[in-house]
Amino acid sequence: MEKQIKRASERFEELLRGQLARIEQMKSGNDFLNYASLDTLIIGVCGGDGIGPAITSQAKRVLETLLSSEVGVGKVEFRDINGLTIERRAECGKAIPEDTLEELKACHVILKGPTTTPRAGDPWPNIESANVAMRKSLDLFANVRPVKVPALNIDWVFFRENTEGAYAMGSQGVHVSDDLAIDFTVTTSQGSDRIIRTAFEYARKTGRKRLTAVTKANVVKATDGKFLSIAKEIAKNYPEISFDDWYIDIMAAKLVDEKRRSGFDVMVLPNLYGDILTDEAAEFQGGVGTAGSANLGRQYAMFEAIHGSAPRMVEEGRAQYADPCSMLRASVLLLEHIGKSDLASRLERALDICMYEERKLVITGRHDGCTSAQFADYVTETMSKL
Ligand code: IPM
Ligand code: MG
Repeated sequence: MEKQIKRASERFEELLRGQLARIEQMKSGNDFLNYASLDTLIIGVCGGDGIGPAITSQAKRVLETLLSSEVGVGKVEFRDINGLTIERRAECGKAIPEDTLEELKACHVILKGPTTTPRAGDPWPNIESANVAMRKSLDLFANVRPVKVPALNIDWVFFRENTEGAYAMGSQGVHVSDDLAIDFTVTTSQGSDRIIRTAFEYARKTGRKRLTAVTKANVVKATDGKFLSIAKEIAKNYPEISFDDWYIDIMAAKLVDEKRRSGFDVMVLPNLYGDILTDEAAEFQGGVGTAGSANLGRQYAMFEAIHGSAPRMVEEGRAQYADPCSMLRASVLLLEHIGKSDLASRLERALDICMYEERKLVITGRHDGCTSAQFADYVTETMSKL
């Protein structure tokens, strides 16, 4: 037992050193990339696995139409990145193969399809999720997930911390003995400060009135306690925004409370709570297939669906019927982020019309519905009339 404790302690020391080094990197971080100053903005397109390539290619097609004049004059370039499949990751034994990471780093923004995340018992080695690895290696600290259902008066924007919490060392937990497994959750001042400030700045810029921090600080006292106390401090600088805090359990309940839920506005929360709550939230909008997500850092930004790669749809030969709306919503966020607000609004408006108002074509995921390509054409056609 003494030997096991010693081995686990050494491992813990190694992890602590890694996190302390990460803090130093955060302190000396670069400024935000200014897209307007680039000669050519490079958009990397990564299809991913399962239904990923099918829905990502449709979103790419819509973006290419919207950005055709920029592409024509060389202001924007689309670049396909093919190395992020589960087969390739398994072969290299890496969450992101080295050469693929280099290709990603040569882009400014990335449109990424869902990637399969292995777990114990799968035919793949139990390597770290490509999503999580990308968020960490490109330091994409803010995961922004909007959910909007006008008919229910729901208009939420979640700011999920994206590099820390239970995910920071999710693949580095320790099996101390046959009976004892320990995972770690990480909260740093710098990591909390940057996501909370980003959420407040967003609220200020967009004239939103309320910001809610979601934690479990009554039980998880060191890490969630730190996150919450930093949020309370930062809130003092934004007197025009009303700040409150909720625990994750009651928050999950209140999202289904018809009397309370439309009162929520901007929410900021640690990584794992954000993962869970945003799936719940997306369900009101029509499910995870309808929700996009922005992963923002100082130098890079990545836009993706919030759902997985749905391998069963591919096995059953239904990939061409997959819903491209999550990737199209992610494309709205991408356009907004690169400063193309007009195009973002047009695409968003067309999606609202096609998904909720007119519904001339409906996606069911099966052959009784339309295909991804037909839906993307419908969206493009609707945009041309706006
Ligand atoms: C998400 C997904 C990922 C996560 C998975 C695929 C690793 O659920 O983007 O929410 O847990 O973050
Ligand atoms: Mg999730």
